Amino acid sequence: MTQDELKQAVARAAIDYVVDGEIIGVGTGSTANFFIDELARIKDRIKGTVASSEATAARLRGHGIPVYDLNDVSSIAVYIDGADEINAGGAMIKGGGAALTREKIVASVSKKFVCIADGSKLVHVLGKFPLPVEVIPMARAAVMRQLEALGGQPRLRTKAGSSDPFITDNGGEIIDVAGLSIVDPVALETQINQIVGVIAVGLFAQRGANVCLLGRPDGLQTLTF
Ligand code: A5P
Repeated sequence: MTQDELKQAVARAAIDYVVDGEIIGVGTGSTANFFIDELARIKDRIKGTVASSEATAARLRGHGIPVYDLNDVSSIAVYIDGADEINAGGAMIKGGGAALTREKIVASVSKKFVCIADGSKLVHVLGKFPLPVEVIPMARAAVMRQLEALGGQPRLRTKAGSSDPFITDNGGEIIDVAGLSIVDPVALETQINQIVGVIAVGLFAQRGANVCLLGRPDGLQTLTF
């Protein structure tokens, strides 16, 4: 099975977690895109969605699936999204697709977080994937110094083929922090959240996944936390 086939398999399995008549939170990335395509098949069963990025909102609308502003929604039954890394406790690194802040907001108001990923995303210790941190542009250098003091190697994310900073849906910039071995994800998330100028850190530990569906060549693995 290819990696895309594994992602498609978990996206299909995630449909079992969709709650009829409710609002569904939808993540960002290639696995989330497969989920959106599966959700389109049963769109009449749900009330609508809240999207974690402009790209996801566009794909949902392209399928004719209603997309609500989070401010107009009082509760989200379940949030379904991919991850860049997940550990055995359900803590994740996210934000490879630059949508970490909105993903964190939607996840925080959702009753359940279902992570969908191919099996390669399960790791013993988080940190091999550089940790994305979204920052206010004027604070970039100051935040980078503090991330360096925490033992990381921070690097500004740039637009493809350019040295200009990549700009998020929120007008922020992304610093990718390599070289971290994250043995205490909750503590590091708290520490980075306290750096002035940080909009959000792509460490999802305080609000981790409740369920993780992992696609493996020999079948689906379900982890519950
Ligand atoms: C988006 O910002 C990320 O958090 C994604 O959830 C993550 O990068 C996983 O993406 P893929 O599904 O493309 O691997």
